[in-house]
Amino acid sequence: EKGGYDHFMMKEIYEQPSVIKDTYRGRLLADQGLIHLGGLEDYIPKFLNADRIIIIACGTSWHAGLVAEYVFEDLTRIPVEVEYASEFRYRNPIITEKDVVIAISQSGETADTLAAIKLAKEKGAFVYGICNVVGSSISRETHSGTYTHAGPEIGVASTKAFTTQITVLTMIALKLAKTKGTISKRDYMLYLHELELIPTRVEEALKSNEKIKEIAEVFKNASNFLYLGRGCNFPVALEGALKLKEISYIHAEGYPAAEMKHGPIALIDENMPVVVIAINSDHYDKVVSNIQEIKSRKGIIIAVVTEGDTAVTEMADYVMVVPKTPEMLTPLVTTIPLQLLSYHIAVLLDRNVDQPRNLAKSVTVE
Ligand code: F6R
Repeated sequence: EKGGYDHFMMKEIYEQPSVIKDTYRGRLLADQGLIHLGGLEDYIPKFLNADRIIIIACGTSWHAGLVAEYVFEDLTRIPVEVEYASEFRYRNPIITEKDVVIAISQSGETADTLAAIKLAKEKGAFVYGICNVVGSSISRETHSGTYTHAGPEIGVASTKAFTTQITVLTMIALKLAKTKGTISKRDYMLYLHELELIPTRVEEALKSNEKIKEIAEVFKNASNFLYLGRGCNFPVALEGALKLKEISYIHAEGYPAAEMKHGPIALIDENMPVVVIAINSDHYDKVVSNIQEIKSRKGIIIAVVTEGDTAVTEMADYVMVVPKTPEMLTPLVTTIPLQLLSYHIAVLLDRNVDQPRNLAKSVTVE
């Protein structure tokens, strides 16, 4: 049942190329320049006329929402807010029938997300769901939605659900941008083709597994980790830190790289491994200077870099290489080495990887 892997988590990490394909199959036709999402077609005007899109979720799904904020605002120019469902529902939020809410949930059963959806509906908002579990409470409570087709996720630490959520959200943003006219034909076609290539890129990223296992061996006894990223890879840094915390019980924090100087840099010393997502992007030079700041304080750098990288590779203590893809799609590949790193550390520490202490797969308590 674990398909030859020691843990469901590893099986699910390795399933990502195929489940991302399942998620866009029949919905993304790159050659024809088409995106067709059954649940979306009738509601496109609702999205395009919305004052803003509010994304609500918890945990890893909330991180997928944060990635989507970058993608949606850039492509569609519709304002996006991302909220923890638990905060949203208890703070008397301002919400009207001009708002569109996207609720993201792997299980479709998360109590806070479900309650936030009910509140948004009461206030007249249109609520769109992105769930993995078919027929789940959230998929029934929302007005419409799109399923991720990740298949059952058994490991408590969410992996393939995250990348398939981002796949769906990216398709929605591209469809809306195309309809609204906020993306050029050329960019639209490019993204469609590149999205179709993501399963191949993820396969490529998975090839670093052995190398990452060696890195895990070096750092398994660290008591703290920092994860840094910028732009749409800032949420990936948060997600990397969450994965490490929940399955290895090592304290880890994710930060936007530029926030370092506003406090966390005080933590840097020779005992602090810092995982930096330093892929080719508009932020590359800025990330290089962030790395210099860390190195000059004797911090240890484990960098996620694009293949062919030289500058960061020279500065970093360890690198994890991912293939090239347009910046907007990079979260789908940069996530992979971070999943593997936390997995190997947890295994080396003999943790219960698939069922970490104190955690449940569906959080149905409030
Ligand atoms: C992290 C994790 C949790 C869930 C969160 C939301 O690996 O699994 O943080 O992401 O409990 O769950 P869903 O997506 O089912 O609403």
